Amino acid sequence: MSTKESFCLAVFALLLVSAFGVKDPELKQCKHQCKVQQQFDERQREACVRRCEECSRQKQEREHGGGGHGSYGEEDQYWNRESPIERLRECVKGCETQRGQQRERCQSSCQKEYEKERERYEGNERQEEEEGEEKQQHEENPYVFKDHHFVTGPQTQHGRVRILQKFTDRSKKLFRGIENYRLAIYEADPLTFVVPNHWDAEALVFVAKGKGTASLVTKDRRESFNIKEGDILRIKAGTTAYLINRDQNERLVLANLMQPVSTPGNFEAFYGAGGENPESFYRVFSNEILEAAFNVRRDKIEKLFGQQRQGAILKVSREQIQGMSHHEEGGIWPFGGGESKGTFNIYEQHPTHANQFGQLYEVDSSHLRFLQDLDVAVTLTNISRGAMTALYYNSRATKICVVKDGAGFYEMACPHMKSLQSQNHHEGSSQREQPGSRRESSDTPRYQKISSRLKRGTVVVVPAGHPFVAVASNNQNLQLMCFVVHANDNEKHALAGKRNVINKLERGAKELAFGVPEREVDQVFRSQEEEFFFKGPRQQARDFSDM
Ligand SMILES: *[C@@H]1O[C@H](CO)[C@@H](O)[C@H](O)[C@H]1NC(C)=O
Repeated sequence: MSTKESFCLAVFALLLVSAFGVKDPELKQCKHQCKVQQQFDERQREACVRRCEECSRQKQEREHGGGGHGSYGEEDQYWNRESPIERLRECVKGCETQRGQQRERCQSSCQKEYEKERERYEGNERQEEEEGEEKQQHEENPYVFKDHHFVTGPQTQHGRVRILQKFTDRSKKLFRGIENYRLAIYEADPLTFVVPNHWDAEALVFVAKGKGTASLVTKDRRESFNIKEGDILRIKAGTTAYLINRDQNERLVLANLMQPVSTPGNFEAFYGAGGENPESFYRVFSNEILEAAFNVRRDKIEKLFGQQRQGAILKVSREQIQGMSHHEEGGIWPFGGGESKGTFNIYEQHPTHANQFGQLYEVDSSHLRFLQDLDVAVTLTNISRGAMTALYYNSRATKICVVKDGAGFYEMACPHMKSLQSQNHHEGSSQREQPGSRRESSDTPRYQKISSRLKRGTVVVVPAGHPFVAVASNNQNLQLMCFVVHANDNEKHALAGKRNVINKLERGAKELAFGVPEREVDQVFRSQEEEFFFKGPRQQARDFSDM
């Protein structure tokens, strides 16, 4: 549990204890608690008081139905909000009991409620960001993306497509090098069909969860692949692709790295097959054109493109799925012992590093040639509970990682934050400090620690050259799936562990650089016997008050 969650719980406990009192004394008591915390400094005290006020306000809203949100559940604590999109799904599910127009009305009112909530939600996020300097440091961590940094593309009650905001929308300065990459997450419920469409982008697909069938239509053929967790496949720009989740219980989740081919950083889906929803692009053409192009009468065309209203992800029966596979023309049978032709599974590779503390799997252009053209690799890191990776950096690659499962945290050394933050205060100071120069006084550290808690779905960007470490929580393994951008000729350089960079320096260089005898350097740098995965810190970092 994060500090913030436990804090709010503590406040709730306080509020309960004094439930007989009136509101004000509760708040007062909470504030008093903040003031008597010995370990807090002034800023932390102020932040504490603000949180008291926030918690109290939340509680009042809940009690008095403030805002009239029936959908706020009991456990929906302020710091642990279900996202609006999750609530939309629930709401739309509720509409399923109704039919026809009533259902549509129900769905559209869900949608309206969602838009309102989303605004409020984003407003809250912004407000949080504006609160207190202490928090700002965390909130301003531009390398971490959470649920609210995704925009939602096509969605139905049976699944959704979530697209991460443009990296350069977060920070132009930091992310120009990966401007033309986008991350999209597809989620399809059990027994669903994702309507055929094509993108104006190259896609590298990683199957994060579930099983299914992917069908790709190119100029003169169709290929169907069985896909399963750990599979990697490429969908070339403009390929018409569709998906079936043929599992009865499990969701199918795909992480896609998109490389737009037309407008840098932007891509769109194009639906031909469809109707009103998904809206078919055929519908925009003039009737005369369509009549001539199809060589049929207008009423037939209107009828065909006027039917579909169920959205881009449809619930299907097992029979429908089987029916589809009976009509296979090319490709392979999607049931029974079919090979995953055309896909490549990351788990079937030998791990690059493996010990009791974790495994690293890597797939690059030596395994899949097309990765050379894309200049991308894919890695999967499985860190055992309580363990950690080596401190290391990538020589030229930037990693875009998604927490696939589990929880933990990461730390990274970053030289950019200071200059981003202090541009106004210390004009020119960043110019004075040449790269490689030693800092002169200890109150202007050049590197800042960037850190964040990691949980399923969190996205982290680790730029080239930046020293980085990831740690699994004490209760769960941490599984990170990463797209490694600019992967060709990339090397990982370890900064701790058996083969670290410092150990390779000659004696004189070590002694000059550290200003101590080599023996003392070696005592530190030669003690770790493991190479890439280590036993984790005895105490886990507790200070993630932003989570
Ligand atoms: C991940 O690690 C756990 C042990 O911590 C192990 O049981 C599991 O098989 C590992 N998964 C992979 C894919 O290596």
